[in-house]
Amino acid sequence: DRGAYPYYMLKEIDEQPAVLHRIQKAYLENTDKPAISTELLTAMKHADRLYIVGAGTSYHAGLVGKQLFEKLTQIPTEVVVASEFAYADPMLSQRPFFIFLTQSGETADSRQVLVRVNNEWHAPSLTITNVENSTLYREATYQLLLNAGPEIAVASTKAYTAQIAVEAVVAKALGEVKEIEFAQKFDVRRELSLAANGIQSIVDEKDKLKKIAHQDLAKTRNAFYIGRGVDYFVALEAALKLKEISYIQAEGFASGELKHGTIALIEDHTPVIALITQAKTAGHTRSNIQEVKSRGAQVLTIVSEALAKKEDRIVIPTISELLMPLMSVVPAQLLAYYASLERGYDVDQPRNLAKSVTVE
Ligand code: M6R
Repeated sequence: DRGAYPYYMLKEIDEQPAVLHRIQKAYLENTDKPAISTELLTAMKHADRLYIVGAGTSYHAGLVGKQLFEKLTQIPTEVVVASEFAYADPMLSQRPFFIFLTQSGETADSRQVLVRVNNEWHAPSLTITNVENSTLYREATYQLLLNAGPEIAVASTKAYTAQIAVEAVVAKALGEVKEIEFAQKFDVRRELSLAANGIQSIVDEKDKLKKIAHQDLAKTRNAFYIGRGVDYFVALEAALKLKEISYIQAEGFASGELKHGTIALIEDHTPVIALITQAKTAGHTRSNIQEVKSRGAQVLTIVSEALAKKEDRIVIPTISELLMPLMSVVPAQLLAYYASLERGYDVDQPRNLAKSVTVE
């Protein structure tokens, strides 16, 4: 039931702080040592490489997860698009471990990979899903729940943030078992609380994003999201949201790649939305902003407080850089929502799309 909300998507965006609290309760009640089964952690510890498999938004959550797993567990991690991997001839490592990210647990492309994992590669797997007893839940060796609550809108929002949060919890637990110093110092419980508070402050100020969508996105034919590192991964997710429900031709780009070709597309007033949450690359992305500005782009920045400057239009609270995607995606979700409304579309039921994609 969407109660007083005009669309499920807005309700689900607003629910994200509560979802993070639910994940804390499920996995971290009164402790910073996650409640994850020893069997699962032992199987993962044995792996020489993690393969994260997903489609669409779940793939994007996997991209963010790569860094979490590599920093916290020191296990090399590869992230793959399910529909591609399903028919590829990968050179797998000696002891692969597969992680399936899927909100619905029914995505045919992801399931096809799991069929190969079980029948051809005989490797252990974990499905992280929102739906208990779904196909991918049943067919994997291990399973964890997202605890996001039902997601109804076709455009995935709270499942994305939940997937990143659960990846962080699992990576923390595994890093603890492996006695990785970085993991021992990473207070995932506190970070999730900070993220919940941060997201709350962003959704409390949604009118500001509504205004920006009205000014910058109501009429445009195309738009770009840019960033580096995890900011780039969020740019991919942000662009997908905009495409799906507002039908604006949007692309997520690695900021540094623009000048290698794509910058030719920038015209007067082309919206370019830059994500800046990583200290190491902030300066470089700022230079890339100058490059597109001088070609006429209408620039909008989503920046963490710690890296903000006077001219930044959307400033968000700062948490651990590894988890900034939890925060920086939220303004992008709201921009997509309001852009869709501005353009007069059905936010929850975009054309040509189904909530769960059960064909390959
Ligand atoms: O249920 P899944 O997480 O496996 O679904 C994967 C994609 O189909 C899904 O994330 C899709 O990209 C969303 N509509 C994006 O908003």
